[in-house]
Amino acid sequence: MGNELSPFYFDLLARVLRKEAGILLRPEKTYSLRAKLRPLADRWGFTQLNELITHVHRERHNPQVVDAVLNALTIKETRFFRDGRPFDLLRERILPRLARDRRERGLRIWSGACSNGQEAVSLAILLREVLPPAQADRSLVVGTDVSEEAISRARQGIYTEEETQRGLPSATRQRHFAPIPEGYRVRPELRRLLRYRTLNLVAPVEFPLSRFDLILCRNVLIYLDDSSKGKVLANVHSRLASDGYLLTGAGEDARRLHSGFQSESGDGIAWYRKVVGNLLAVPGEAGA
Ligand SMILES: C[S@@+](CC[C@H](N)C(=O)[O-])C[C@H]1O[C@@H](n2cnc3c(N)ncnc32)[C@H](O)[C@@H]1O
Repeated sequence: MGNELSPFYFDLLARVLRKEAGILLRPEKTYSLRAKLRPLADRWGFTQLNELITHVHRERHNPQVVDAVLNALTIKETRFFRDGRPFDLLRERILPRLARDRRERGLRIWSGACSNGQEAVSLAILLREVLPPAQADRSLVVGTDVSEEAISRARQGIYTEEETQRGLPSATRQRHFAPIPEGYRVRPELRRLLRYRTLNLVAPVEFPLSRFDLILCRNVLIYLDDSSKGKVLANVHSRLASDGYLLTGAGEDARRLHSGFQSESGDGIAWYRKVVGNLLAVPGEAGA
């Protein structure tokens, strides 16, 4: 009874999420939406989901309220070395090339939408395994996500046995993780390379670091509307070194929404180099 969600309230919530976070709510997801909102309604003392949504709408400019809804609704599905081949490409081509071109310093990598950190940790593992030790020591992986919950888990650097079995070869786990009663903890040699912070990719990005040599923005654009995708890609473009690389999820075409990327995609891997200067306007693009 209290779990009913009429089209009116669905639209109200969809409008708030679209305006405040650029996230698209699809009507076919109503069933799972109700299940995800219920714990939040209970926590805030609302018996009806409609009351919860009225509250969220009223408080739509309150970041804590919007963050709590985003935490409840975002899909955080992830795993180590997700999809395999993009990480082979990084290991075999991209990272050696970047390391060679930046012999004098470490690499700076940004994992946008890193969920609980598995993507960022996978990148730190590659840095340790591909770069000369002194260059790896000077490198950094910055993991960001809109979900505070996800970032606080990522910061702990603790993964269950089951989570490590998703994508981590056992020799890699043994080398880079220490067994603890709860599962496995990322070893200090990797932790030193990792920084995490909450960040909404749709909002302007303020980073203390100058530019990133490599940015991963994978399996997040699919949840956003075109105008928000354009904003995310404009952010990413402005934070990418002029000879840097961008990787998106396989079905996420950055070139279609932003002319500042030259596609190198193939074999089911979506990757791009930055185009500098003389950008062509692409419909829906939110700035270069
Ligand atoms: C399906 S996970 C993908 C995680 C990882 N990139 C991967 O490919 O395995 C999507 C992540 O995007 C995050 N997310 C959704 N909208 C976002 C936004 N506007 N800004 C930053 N992160 C966002 C979610 O919180 C979630 O952790």
